[in-house]
Amino acid sequence: MANLNMLLQQFLHVLLFLLIPVSSQPNQLFYDGFLGSNIMSLRGVAEIESNGILKLTDDSSRVVGQAFYPTGLRFKNSSDGKAFSFSSSFALIIFPEYEKLGGHGLAFTIASSKNLKALPSQYLGLLNSTSTGNSSNHLFAVEFDTAQDFEFGDIDDNHVGIDINSLVSIASAPVGYYTGGDDNSTKQNLTLTSGEPIIAWVDYDASQSIVNVTISESSTKPKRPLLSHHVDLSPIFEDLMFVGFSASTGLLASSHYILGWSFKINGPAPPLELSSLPQLPGPKKKHTSLITGVSISGFLALCGFLFGIYMYRRYKNADVIEAWELEIGPHRYSYQELKKATKGFKDKELLGQGGFGSVYKGTLPNSNTQVAVKRISHDSKQGLREFVSEIASIGRLRHRNLVPLLGWCRRRGDLLLVYDFMENGSLDKYLFDGPKTILSWEQRFKVIKDVASALLYLHEGYEQVVIHRDVKASNVLLDGGLNGRLGDFGLARLYEHGANPSTTRVVGTFGYMAPEVPRTGKSTPNSDVFAFGALLLEVACGLRPLEPKALPEDVVLVDCVWNKYKQGRILDLVDPKLNGAFNEREVLMVLKLGILCSNAAPAARPSMRQVVRFLDGEVGLPDELRKPEEVGYQEGFDEFMNSLEPSSFYQMSTSSYAIKTDMDARFPFIDTSLYTLHARGETR
Ligand SMILES: *[C@@H]1O[C@H](CO)[C@@H](O)[C@H](O)[C@H]1NC(C)=O
Ligand SMILES: *[C@@H]1O[C@H](CO)[C@@H](O)[C@H](O)[C@H]1NC(C)=O
Ligand SMILES: *[C@@H]1O[C@H](CO)[C@@H](O)[C@H](O)[C@H]1NC(C)=O
Ligand SMILES: *[C@@H]1O[C@H](CO)[C@@H](O)[C@H](O)[C@H]1NC(C)=O
Ligand SMILES: *[C@@H]1O[C@H](CO)[C@@H](O)[C@H](O)[C@H]1NC(C)=O
Ligand SMILES: *[C@@H]1O[C@H](CO)[C@@H](O)[C@H](O)[C@H]1NC(C)=O
Repeated sequence: MANLNMLLQQFLHVLLFLLIPVSSQPNQLFYDGFLGSNIMSLRGVAEIESNGILKLTDDSSRVVGQAFYPTGLRFKNSSDGKAFSFSSSFALIIFPEYEKLGGHGLAFTIASSKNLKALPSQYLGLLNSTSTGNSSNHLFAVEFDTAQDFEFGDIDDNHVGIDINSLVSIASAPVGYYTGGDDNSTKQNLTLTSGEPIIAWVDYDASQSIVNVTISESSTKPKRPLLSHHVDLSPIFEDLMFVGFSASTGLLASSHYILGWSFKINGPAPPLELSSLPQLPGPKKKHTSLITGVSISGFLALCGFLFGIYMYRRYKNADVIEAWELEIGPHRYSYQELKKATKGFKDKELLGQGGFGSVYKGTLPNSNTQVAVKRISHDSKQGLREFVSEIASIGRLRHRNLVPLLGWCRRRGDLLLVYDFMENGSLDKYLFDGPKTILSWEQRFKVIKDVASALLYLHEGYEQVVIHRDVKASNVLLDGGLNGRLGDFGLARLYEHGANPSTTRVVGTFGYMAPEVPRTGKSTPNSDVFAFGALLLEVACGLRPLEPKALPEDVVLVDCVWNKYKQGRILDLVDPKLNGAFNEREVLMVLKLGILCSNAAPAARPSMRQVVRFLDGEVGLPDELRKPEEVGYQEGFDEFMNSLEPSSFYQMSTSSYAIKTDMDARFPFIDTSLYTLHARGETR
């Protein structure tokens, strides 16, 4: 029966193919299934399944799949340059790996090329981070997006949007359809990731310049479109355009399918009948019916068997996934996958150590994505659980100046965090200790602004205030385009969950840690600003905030900058490695802003919003700075310094550590176990 169906379909396609003269271009396409040769050109992971369904992606992570009609179609009248009307209808199914959590989506696409240089995840295989928003893209798309990306202002994680040259939609709406006419309709919601077929219609009326997008769960087209947006596509289209579909997955992944497609230029697309399209072979829902089908005794035997496996794995591997980890869910990688990616955490793959753990370079087996895997040991399981939930939620933060956290994995007391790999390493490598490459002032100023915009986003751009807690040059990473990206956000929090409730640990790095932090045991947005001030000074001066080898009065960089400022010779301190090539106004502003942020009184520091406005030149800094009341460190600091060997002092100034503050004790004391861990790391 199935075979007969297939034969029939193939026959119909051959017939259709014969009807279209090969030399001229068709202005109508109709596929009730995609069987036949060279019907579509496929790229990435896209494939046609044996039953004729077009599978754009499966549920592996970070992949792109595309299918375009093989030849370009004429979308424009070459004599008057006006875009033609067109109409299209297609049936799609999105089947998420984890129920309700889709990633990332698919798009009906009309593009000037079928070889899009595009990225997976939020870019949907349409554009990349540099091309999005550029009017030379000549891209029209209707996105069916199942992940909310703050970067692109997505309204939710279940929307349809009209995209022109950019992933920021010009119009979007939660998925659904209207019953009734234009005036008395009510909206029914639909869920893209339901795993059920959804039919969509995209219609462009050239005479009125209106794009309509209509959605339904049945073959009958609702009268009122979900989206109706006025836009003239004439400047977007080139004469010949390619039409088809693109889909992508991120860390969260769905299988994206197209069951059938019709398309016509200057006329209505032939209707699709859902019942005559190929069906997705009974998806993964089967489990329940399977289990009820098995007899009780069989069921008990199965339980015994599963329990046996469970116990075996528990004792063999001790990599048992605990219930809470499943709740946090999809960001989890398997340990085996990460072990394979980093070639078994080989020393050769080590990118660096310090700052809470070792970082390895890796390549994920499925997608060939390069990643950095940070391995952290932690003793408290309780703390780990809270921390992982927090990291998973923070991991949803998206900003172009944050290093994206892709996911995590726990194995016994080890926590593994997976980040995008940043090819140009960390900022400190370009500033201190005879760097191989010197960054110009323009590059440095750009990086400063990048970090400021990331911090502003953490403090104000997300639903909750996120405090970084460990801003410093070695946590600023440079991507391929030398853009500054802040890494390790929120990580310091892991060590704040102290085991003993009467003590809190505060975490940070000497030289960057605001003086009130050890005193109060609390980090605040203000203490991030303090650290950012230290970063400003070191980027301008090419010196660490604490330079232990310097003369006593020059040990604390901000004191040194203040002294020069009083003498009116602040520019003496500008990094000599710049050879005098810098914009004096900008450098002066950065140094003064550094002093302002380094004020010992938290309330006297500017907010990140103000900092960004200063850096953008929207607001001028005060001409005369007042002395930042108590610059540097007093309480606890001298005692702490005196207790250290000079050699360990040097390591301390660059690597993160935790201080336990006993609320009853006068002075903070260092958590030596953590300290030795990192001190050892730094010497490698
Ligand atoms: C293209 O535009 C010209 C001038 O407006 C018109 O005469 C012609 O009919 C148009 N061709 C098509 C195919 O619409
Ligand atoms: C991004 O897309 C543009 C335009 O398609 C292309 O020129 C550029 O090479 C792409 N960049 C990357 C990093 O792929
Ligand atoms: C847009 O893309 C073109 C070609 O890829 C490039 O020359 C141009 O600089 C880009 N414009 C912007 C604003 O990025
Ligand atoms: C909507 O209005 C039309 C006439 O304007 C009427 O026939 C129809 O019953 C109404 N539908 C509903 C759901 O009220
Ligand atoms: C449809 O979804 C919207 C939010 O997207 C919600 O406000 C509304 O109550 C939902 N309607 C129904 C009928 O569930
Ligand atoms: C688009 O939708 C509007 C509003 O319902 C309707 O008036 C118009 O005829 C539609 N145009 C097309 C081409 O479907």
